[in-house]
Amino acid sequence: MTDRKWPAIIQGGMGIAVSHWPLARAVSSAGQLGVVSGTAIDMVLLRRLQDGDPGGHMRRALKASPWPQMAADVIERFFQPHGRKANQPYARIPLWTLSPNRWRTSLAMLGGFAEVWLAKAGQAGTVGINLLTKVELPNLPILYGAMQAGVDAVLMGAGIPREIPGVLDRLAEHEEVAMRYTVSDAPSAGNSVIRFNPADYAESAPSSRLHRPGFFPIISAATLAVMLIKKATGAVDGFIVEGARAGGHNAPPRGVMEYDAIGQPVYHPRDTANVTAIAKLGYPFWLAGGFGSRSGLRSAWEQGANGIQVGTLFAYCEESGLIPELRQRVFSTLEDGTASVYTDPLASPTGFPFKVVSVPGTLSEKNIYHNRPRICDLGYLRESYQDSRGHIQQRCAAGPMDDYIAHGGKLEDTYRRLCLCNGLMSASGYAQIQHGGYVEPPVVTSGDALEELLPLLERFGQRFSARNVVDYLLGTTDLESGAADS
Ligand SMILES: Cc1cc2nc3c(=O)[nH]c(=O)nc-3n(C[C@H](O)[C@H](O)[C@H](O)COP(=O)(O)O)c2cc1C
Repeated sequence: MTDRKWPAIIQGGMGIAVSHWPLARAVSSAGQLGVVSGTAIDMVLLRRLQDGDPGGHMRRALKASPWPQMAADVIERFFQPHGRKANQPYARIPLWTLSPNRWRTSLAMLGGFAEVWLAKAGQAGTVGINLLTKVELPNLPILYGAMQAGVDAVLMGAGIPREIPGVLDRLAEHEEVAMRYTVSDAPSAGNSVIRFNPADYAESAPSSRLHRPGFFPIISAATLAVMLIKKATGAVDGFIVEGARAGGHNAPPRGVMEYDAIGQPVYHPRDTANVTAIAKLGYPFWLAGGFGSRSGLRSAWEQGANGIQVGTLFAYCEESGLIPELRQRVFSTLEDGTASVYTDPLASPTGFPFKVVSVPGTLSEKNIYHNRPRICDLGYLRESYQDSRGHIQQRCAAGPMDDYIAHGGKLEDTYRRLCLCNGLMSASGYAQIQHGGYVEPPVVTSGDALEELLPLLERFGQRFSARNVVDYLLGTTDLESGAADS
């Protein structure tokens, strides 16, 4: 554990490209920890380049990378100076596998680099990167890219990132890394390994040792913190303790799943992390999930936490990557009292509960999911399995049903699944135009405590900045209504 001092507020990582570099940069410049989302950042980079790279930011960042030739190749291949033509789909590139195509690895390294580099450029604040542990294949090159840009912190949940601390230690030395890879239906667990060797991509002698970022697993139970301290392959620097009210994916309740009257998983007191036990471990920690208010921050401090990780409030500020029209639609539902967030036990093909906001024109349980064409062309959430001949294959429960079943999946597991890859890409403005012209409607996720936005809306109207959110949380903004602390 480093003895570095970390800020009180962490702006949570929000994929896909909701916590893009402008948001993380704004939070970081305001003295807090801004976190870029690394999820699908390779594809986000590709799509930004095809959209003409507005502002030239991607090209500026790529040119600053330690891989000038790789950057030039990527620009040459994907950059379209005038953006895409009407109805032109984004480029389709082979999906991630254990032996990825070189373009994929290049885009992952450069995507991780560019996002962090842009968030940090010209300001001295701290910047982290968030990755989902479950999305295993792209994570190593993204982490190396982010570290080349000087990322200060790595935050990972949605799985148990036990091997990542050791990976960070080795990547700091530019050494080859390997990580066990989850394969379902395999007779012997862990028989597959993902490898990444920085030397395979080096264009000059490696620079000196890279800064090893702080590592912060996102956990939902004290037992997990204890396990990670003892069994992680390197140092853990603190914990994000996230409860079931948080936006995005949630840890499932313990034991047999029970459902409420509208089909949401029921969480019991046993599902709430034992914060007292976590505090006793002596590591810095932040509470997340419904702590986005002044009283939330105070309560976290009273419980011994360093502060809070907040997602929802930042997802709706001006610098967020969530498209402005969607933000406005959510504001309208808040204003007319129809806002609702549904904890969907089935939407995510990962099997983890996932929060979906009911917004007109988006995919939600109110705008029924199942009539959408099933296409798996991004594949980040695919599960790997071993077939009867011992080969490793991949399948997604939200993809075409025939395909899923042909790959050994069960029909019942396909029910009500959403393509989060395409739905979330769509929510941040990177929707693919599929064959036949179909465009996946956006999927919007937020925490249960959507109403935490109300004090900000009352004070600033529908346009507030990340700095406004920070000032509000720290209590340095006057709130005329005084309603914020309720
Ligand atoms: C739009 C949105 C997307 C999110 N995506 C991710 C993600 O990709 N990875 C992750 O670890 N957490 C994700 N989260 C969770 C946040 O990082 C944060 O922990 C959580 O939102 C905190 O709870 P709150 O929403 O009540 O503030 C997401 C949250 C939101 C609102």
